[in-house]
Amino acid sequence: MARCFVTRDLPGSALERLRAAHDVDLWPDRLPPPPDVLRERAAQADGLLCLLTDAIDAGLIAACPDLIAISNLAVGVNNVDLAAATARGIPVGYTPDVLTESTADLTFALILAIARRLPEGMEAVRDGSWITWEPAFLLGRDVGGATLGIVGMGRIGHAVAQRAEGFAMTVVQSSRSGGMPLGDLLELADFVSIHCPLTPGTRDLIGAEQLRLMKPTAYLINTARGGIVNQPALITALREGWIAGAALDVTDPEPLPADDPLLDAPNLIVLPHVGSATHATRERMAGLAVDNLLAALAGDAMPHRYPPPPAG
Ligand code: GLV
Repeated sequence: MARCFVTRDLPGSALERLRAAHDVDLWPDRLPPPPDVLRERAAQADGLLCLLTDAIDAGLIAACPDLIAISNLAVGVNNVDLAAATARGIPVGYTPDVLTESTADLTFALILAIARRLPEGMEAVRDGSWITWEPAFLLGRDVGGATLGIVGMGRIGHAVAQRAEGFAMTVVQSSRSGGMPLGDLLELADFVSIHCPLTPGTRDLIGAEQLRLMKPTAYLINTARGGIVNQPALITALREGWIAGAALDVTDPEPLPADDPLLDAPNLIVLPHVGSATHATRERMAGLAVDNLLAALAGDAMPHRYPPPPAG
């Protein structure tokens, strides 16, 4: 029996499978274990099942002499120091595929909500500022027939493009593997949607220079990672009307402090990182995370190890 530290309770029954095979130390709170507690508990473990809110850095990995597997409950692994894990021969698991459709759905929800000003409409109904049907009240922009620019054409980018077809949108893309130069996409798109991973190369990919290229009628959507967009630049872009609005499921940090200036910017929707938050998807993510951990603890290859082996 191996010892596993699991940094949060998970939906569904996946943890029962882990408990049936191994000793499980489960962090019971809603908030993540503080860094010193994470280090202390992980230091006792052979296997670690962690979340994107847990920083699995080189110092933590060095403090865990027995650790043989890290399973991250996320498709993004930017919270794990992959180089430090690899140097120790520790495989890192992740949860791809199962969250693709839910995240693409949420992306579309954000596109529609920001373009058609849904939060403002709800507010107007509740606060009584909606007094009658008016020809020029709460006018938004059409999604149907508009141009969608996808930055990062991986699984989620493709799933968003599929949905865009149903809206008769023109889809353009820019990614490592092809598409158009990012600058051209930014100039062309009515909606720019971010779907690349956060890496040292994509941090602040969308800064002042890039936001200035966008049309004043265009919207920025981010359901990937907050660090890909430079937030001070986004605040200026929204305040000065360089772009029409932004809809974010992710920020840096998460959550934003209540007095963060981003929250006062106009034409902005911010959600609490719920891209994959459906019952079925979160249960499937928990299942994959447990599969990864069980496999590695049994000395087998993780079914979903990051980075994935090259195709073909
Ligand atoms: C969520 O953001 C994930 O990476 O799974």
